[in-house]
Amino acid sequence: MNLIQKDKQYVWHPFTQAKTANDPLVIVKGKDAWVYDENGKKYLDANSSWWTIIHGHGNTYIADKINQQFLTLDHSVFAGVTHPKAIESAQKIVNILPDNFSKVFFSDNGSTAVEVALKMVFQYWYNKGVHKKKIIAIEGSYHGDTFGSMSVSQRGYFNQPFEHLFFEVDFIPFPTSDNIDNVLKKMKTLVNSEQVAGFIFEPLVQGASGMRMYAPKILDQLLQIAKSKNVLCIADEVMTGFYRTGTMFAINQIQEKPDIICLSKGITGGVLPIGFTIATQTIFDAFLSDDTTKALLHGHSFTANPISCSAVCANIELLQQKKIQQQISNIVKQHQLFALEIKQHPMVAEVRQTGTILAIELHNQAGTTYFSNLKDKAYQYFIQRGLLLRPLGNVIFINPPYCISKNELEFAYQIITDFLNN
Ligand SMILES: Cc1ncc(COP(=O)(O)O)c(C=O)c1O
Repeated sequence: MNLIQKDKQYVWHPFTQAKTANDPLVIVKGKDAWVYDENGKKYLDANSSWWTIIHGHGNTYIADKINQQFLTLDHSVFAGVTHPKAIESAQKIVNILPDNFSKVFFSDNGSTAVEVALKMVFQYWYNKGVHKKKIIAIEGSYHGDTFGSMSVSQRGYFNQPFEHLFFEVDFIPFPTSDNIDNVLKKMKTLVNSEQVAGFIFEPLVQGASGMRMYAPKILDQLLQIAKSKNVLCIADEVMTGFYRTGTMFAINQIQEKPDIICLSKGITGGVLPIGFTIATQTIFDAFLSDDTTKALLHGHSFTANPISCSAVCANIELLQQKKIQQQISNIVKQHQLFALEIKQHPMVAEVRQTGTILAIELHNQAGTTYFSNLKDKAYQYFIQRGLLLRPLGNVIFINPPYCISKNELEFAYQIITDFLNN
């Protein structure tokens, strides 16, 4: 049996209809911006393996740190116990966040980081004896696949079977310069009900809905309204964190300060799973009591896994290097030039860029939907030419590892241009 036959026999893939799906690509190796299949063919990993691998594959600095950590302490319980890398990674993260953030809660991935944030919000009000149970989210959002994170994500085909189990969420329209007055009006009406416990958002870039972007000024206005009624604000930076938007965090581009931030994906350089939910001291203090049930009674077997925490430290050390800062700013500039060029193309409806994320939305009668068949056509076209890039519906986007070279980015741009020409 070859690997694909074995895969079919034993494996259940995410977001995949196994009956109709093409055979998966068998990736056996990764180095820097490239991954290699079992026949030795290489593919440029232009979306950083689901937006995670921010320094590319096989980064030797991270490899050394996680190897050392494995040999020092591979894992430990985290209730009643702590360890140096949990403390160091928490301190490093708090030091690079806006100064209102204070305490790190560890979990396993982006969905659990959001789940924890929602539990913090609900229990914050519960502990205070205040009856506030609603959450506001933005239409089109994606916050993960656990029940809480699904509840605050766009409702539809992805989560329909579970909808009866979701809690109450009010969705405001995705804000644009055209509808902003109405969006702000709706936000005001909702928070004025005094029923709203929290507001969750993907700051500046909504990832899974097609890399949709909105201005920092708009986000500031939404946060001002939320904060005027003590609504706790959750910035889900699972995708946008660690320079994706050109700054360490997207929230560095706004004036208002959220109360909770969720981080994952690139936090370990994308090589190991972990989720961080970081809260203000005010939120943390609301859980202090002589009554144990007022504590956040939540945890996972792998909470604060030392090897993952060591990768978090290594990632932050790398991001603070001048060389990597320069690489990030080179990507931003190179994207800007290509954006100017490609937006003239007759197939292109809109080109958007925030930091290192470049999105090219194609004309498509069906609109921007995940199931657009353009996505499959484009994906196959790119794969044949050695470019690993999974479009979101009719949106082709590049979200590359920061080690990508000028020539490698040109290679991706050229294949995208050829696809549009064809
Ligand atoms: C903004 C955002 N939040 C949460 C998640 C969920 O993260 P994970 O896939 O690690 O559970 C994602 C995943 O794409 C995301 O983009």
